[in-house]
Amino acid sequence: MPIADPAAFILANTRLQPVPHAPEISLWLADEVTPIWRLTEEELGEMGLPPPFWAFAWAGGQSLARWLLDHPDEVAGKRVLDFAAGSGLVGIGAMKAGATSVLCADIDPFCAAAVALNAGANRVSSGFTEADLLDAPPPDVDVICAGDVFYERPMAERVLAWLSTAADRGVRVLVGDPLRTYFPKDGFDLLAEYEVPTTRELEDSAVKRTRVWTLPARP
Ligand SMILES: C[S@@+](CC[C@H](N)C(=O)[O-])C[C@H]1O[C@@H](n2cnc3c(N)ncnc32)[C@H](O)[C@@H]1O
Repeated sequence: MPIADPAAFILANTRLQPVPHAPEISLWLADEVTPIWRLTEEELGEMGLPPPFWAFAWAGGQSLARWLLDHPDEVAGKRVLDFAAGSGLVGIGAMKAGATSVLCADIDPFCAAAVALNAGANRVSSGFTEADLLDAPPPDVDVICAGDVFYERPMAERVLAWLSTAADRGVRVLVGDPLRTYFPKDGFDLLAEYEVPTTRELEDSAVKRTRVWTLPARP
């Protein structure tokens, strides 16, 4: 069932709040996962949906946004893809750091509205696509950012293959990951490590050790 008014749904069920590890950025976020998850299923008339990822600032995305804000040379003057954007947190970090353009990509039907609301709240603009970019070669951008994408095996395998193709073509690939089960450290170079405040609503601890990595081209 199509969503009648996703922006109204987001505004009614979240509140604008600073991101703990990147407080320069504020997002429309939920405080608890269960109520908004249930309401999402009601809104879409479907059960068994994935959680509303867009309503939270995941540790991987927080770390990557922090890295970009503190290392603007990574993206200044460049075209950036925020893959699996969720709230659009990483893309907002990239725009604030001086990116020429940001395309946010996510397959969740609420994300277009979430990304637009969050970009507006931070006075930046970004593009958005709901297409599954993993089905095609990586797009023509300078930098691909992926915050917190290694939490499920099938997705992790697809993402790794796709990011590797991008890196081999000379795209700068940046990943933020809080030691998720399916993150394959091999082949990645460590850029930074942070202690990222998150929520027990989502995670097994209130602070997650989270790393920022880059994926170099394969030899
Ligand atoms: C854990 S959330 C991370 C969101 C955001 N990057 C952050 O760190 O806050 C993972 C996101 O991946 C998205 N996702 C899953 N499969 C995807 C795909 N094939 N293409 C794009 N996004 C996808 C989900 O919808 C979800 O928003």
